[in-house]
Order: sequence, then C-alpha cells, then structure tokens
Amino acid sequence: MILPILEYPDKRLRTVAKPVEKINDTVNTLIKDMFDTMYDAPGIGLAATQVNFHQTIIVVDVSDNQNEPICLINPEIIDRSGEIESEEGCLSVPSYYENVKRADNITVKSLDQNGDVVEIDVSGMLAVCIQHEIDHLGGILFIDHLSKLKQKRLKKKTQKKSKQL
Ligand code: NI
Repeated sequence: MILPILEYPDKRLRTVAKPVEKINDTVNTLIKDMFDTMYDAPGIGLAATQVNFHQTIIVVDVSDNQNEPICLINPEIIDRSGEIESEEGCLSVPSYYENVKRADNITVKSLDQNGDVVEIDVSGMLAVCIQHEIDHLGGILFIDHLSKLKQKRLKKKTQKKSKQL
C-alpha cells in the first residue's frame, strides 16, 4: 500500500522515532508499505517518520533497477570516516536540491527483518542515503545541514507556496 508522505514544514517530521521492540506483522506490513511508497515516488530512501510512523525503520535502494532493497531496523552508526559532498533531495522537501557534506564511509549496526543483528560497511551514495534516512528518525531534515541563509530562503519559498493553495 502506498502511504502519504509528510512534507516540510509539517511539524510531524520533527518527531523523534522510538526503537522497534518487536518485529511483528504490523512492523512487517509497515516495511512493505514503505518499500511500495519509496519505489512509487520514486525515491532511493524512506524513513518511517516520513510516512508518520515514529519507529526507527528505514528502507533504501540506490540501485538503478530498484532491485537492491535494504531495510534497517533500529539502525545506529557505530563508525564513520572520510567526507563526501553530494547533492541531496528529499521526498519530504519536493523539488529542492542542495549539496550536503557527510561521512564517506560508515559502519551501521541494525536489525534485519528476522530480528538478527547485522553490521554493514558502506560508502559513497549508499552511505549518504543511509545517513540522510537515519537523520529523519531523529527529526532532522537535510536542509538543517545548510547555511542559515539557505534555510531562510527555503522557508520563505514554502510559505509562499502554501498561501497559494
Ligand atoms: Ni529525506
């Protein structure tokens, strides 16, 4: 099922998600819906926060053919190194793209859908995407990493847009 995606400046995007305690049918259905929603958008990553479920779950797929799905439950970055700057966008901040600096290599510890602990080392675009999605779980948007001036401009633009509706 495709879920509605919250859009900036919706305050619910600022909610801090809670860890998943038990991977049950509800959680598995949410994960399936998150993949459906991400692929439909289309996007390369989605955090539960963006579909108004405030549990620490992210899904990503940075492949060209949408055939490398990754689901991370209760993800935690336990190591990071290097720096990479790349242009980011977000399904919750439509039609807005800016460069953001992040760690180039990260080690992430999380649970898979079977509840097993998995540790992955990733770099480049996948590392950027996972950091962006984990930020969402803490109520953080990629625009929070931009200069105050850029944030101010975006805010103005968004306010104008909502007045027109
Ligand atoms: Ni995003």
